[in-house]
Amino acid sequence: MTQPPTVTLPSGDELPAVGVGTWDIGGETVKQSVRAGLDAGYGHVDTAEGYKNESEIGDALSEYDREDVFLTSKVLPKHLNYESLIESCEDSLERLGTDYLDLYLIHWPNPAVSLRETLSAMEHVVERGWVRNIGVSNFSSYQLSCAQHISNVPIAVNQIEFHPLFQRPDLVDYCRETDTVIEAAAPLGRTAVFENPVIQELAETYDKSAPQIALKWETERGIVPLPKSSTPEHVRSNLELFDWEMDEDDLRRIDDADEDSPVYDTPGRDWSRYTYGISE
Ligand SMILES: NC(=O)c1ccc[n+]([C@@H]2O[C@H](COP(=O)([O-])OP(=O)(O)OC[C@H]3O[C@@H](n4cnc5c(N)ncnc54)[C@H](OP(=O)(O)O)[C@@H]3O)[C@@H](O)[C@H]2O)c1
Repeated sequence: MTQPPTVTLPSGDELPAVGVGTWDIGGETVKQSVRAGLDAGYGHVDTAEGYKNESEIGDALSEYDREDVFLTSKVLPKHLNYESLIESCEDSLERLGTDYLDLYLIHWPNPAVSLRETLSAMEHVVERGWVRNIGVSNFSSYQLSCAQHISNVPIAVNQIEFHPLFQRPDLVDYCRETDTVIEAAAPLGRTAVFENPVIQELAETYDKSAPQIALKWETERGIVPLPKSSTPEHVRSNLELFDWEMDEDDLRRIDDADEDSPVYDTPGRDWSRYTYGISE
């Protein structure tokens, strides 16, 4: 079993440096992925109320010691009003079969709801003991800076789209300057990174898979990737990152491979209905 290194959060809690992503998988598939990940040693699972798989994940988690798992969920932007957030959190706990979350994230910013109201609801769920750390997801530097100024509880994490083809240097610098841990959503660019010639060449040089090269680079750059796979063998191999080294020159070649090319956080997206719930 490989135990990944950990990143210390402002609360003192240790966040394992790689997590099992679970977006867009449900039923037996997500149970198998979570089991494969926890058996391999990830100790870290990422879900969200919006993924509609918390009950299945709860079933899988019931086979493990709760203390051995760092569990993250997220509240949808349409549930960011004070009472809605508290209700969403309680519902996630119930579905996941646990009495606390290690990390609870605002899944997307919602311009139609007061951030101050949302963050005071976040403080409330922390005070109740339902949530140990809070954070945000898909926040720009400006939005993160607003959250940091308003929140009485440290914003421990910003989970953002990040991979070799979308490196977001300004946002990454701002997170680093403010000690906000970056979690990489879509760390494989939903497979887009596999086709990159630099990644392919390094995979050959190091006799590793393309996903392992991308994930290794992310962890070496201090970012916590959350790879998702419906294939247990892939889940296991995505954790094999810590018993080999990549030369700094080769890491820099990946730094230079940035194409500023998102797979989901695209400027033209319209999230107003599904995500923000503004026009529902
Ligand atoms: N906060 C947010 O808004 C947000 C947004 C997106 C994602 N996320 C989080 O980040 C996680 C990952 O993102 P994602 O699911 O969008 O994409 P991803 O992890 O970048 O890519 C997933 C794809 O990579 C393939 N894959 C994974 N490991 C592989 C391997 N070792 N060999 C070959 N193929 C492999 C998977 O196929 P197979 O199933 O065939 O292995 C799947 O098609 C999500 O599950 C979620 O937890 C969060």
